[in-house]
Amino acid sequence: MSRKDRRRPDPRSASGHAPVGRGPSGGKLVAAASSGGLRDTAILPLRFFFGGTFLYAGFDKLVSPSFFDPASAASIQAQLIAFARISPLGGLIRLGQPFATPIGLLIAIAEVAIGLGALSGLSFRLAAAGGALLSALFFLTASWSTHPFYYGPDLPYAMGWLTLALTGPGGRFIPRSILALDERTDLSPGRRDLLKAGWLALASVAAASVAIPFRASGLAGGTGDVTPSAAPSATAQATVPAGAIAIAAIADVQRTGAFAFTIPFDAPAPLPAGDPGIIVRLADGTFVAYDAVCTHAGCTVEWDRRDAILACPCHGATFDPAHRAAVLGGPTDQPLAALPLVIDEAGGRILLRG
Ligand code: FES
Repeated sequence: MSRKDRRRPDPRSASGHAPVGRGPSGGKLVAAASSGGLRDTAILPLRFFFGGTFLYAGFDKLVSPSFFDPASAASIQAQLIAFARISPLGGLIRLGQPFATPIGLLIAIAEVAIGLGALSGLSFRLAAAGGALLSALFFLTASWSTHPFYYGPDLPYAMGWLTLALTGPGGRFIPRSILALDERTDLSPGRRDLLKAGWLALASVAAASVAIPFRASGLAGGTGDVTPSAAPSATAQATVPAGAIAIAAIADVQRTGAFAFTIPFDAPAPLPAGDPGIIVRLADGTFVAYDAVCTHAGCTVEWDRRDAILACPCHGATFDPAHRAAVLGGPTDQPLAALPLVIDEAGGRILLRG
């Protein structure tokens, strides 16, 4: 073997795969190779699940009619407004708010790139490091208000990507053309990495452009916006219907502006028995009640007295109690479910109608 041949890198070793062969300690090499092979197989579920999920998430944003629509509650604009309220990066997010559309586009294309890199093995460690960074960013914004922290998905994603960035792709299911890039001896390692990153960026932009016809043809569906309408407010009734369940005293709600309760477990269907509920006294003196389970991921919304809105402490969704709990902002486009009320003025009670 010439000196030049001896310097030629093994493509699998460049991707973190142990070389196979005999040497002075041939037995150890075989053992190392087999443990490397086991590791290459063991990371496949993580690699393909994370890669497929990020690729899907990127395309989902690109084809979504609401993600780039500032009028939609599910848009990147609405999400940045909500994140600015809850995230420790609030100041930075406020600086980025005027550039919400380019930021959303950048995030979507980055997710496509990370997914493609993980699935193909092209610039794998860079893609995985990008996945860790993006997931950490999501943890500090979208998941920041999730308590306890382990209910949020973004921190486990960040740790998983970090693991993949450290292990490398292994040697399995990597196209020969990508392995061949590692074999190029006419380029220094730095230029080789730059070339692979360039190919990944090009492939990502090309793949992302596939979403354009879907957006143009409107195949991704409607806008998902909710049109606010009048609140289903309750006024006093002379007679209390049979089966109505008392849930609060009028005086209590008037004193505090809002009153949290649990929908009784014996409440008749279709009332969601056992759910948290909230009664709000509107500015015109009438009362409304809603199921307080947030329509994003199920946290319990709370009364924000200062802004007279219902706000979710988890990811910042906000709802307008005066307009059928229409979404004002945050990562959901579904209003809260309204609950039918009966006001028993003579008895000073507020009741749920079954
Ligand atoms: Fe996510 Fe409410 S659970 S905004």
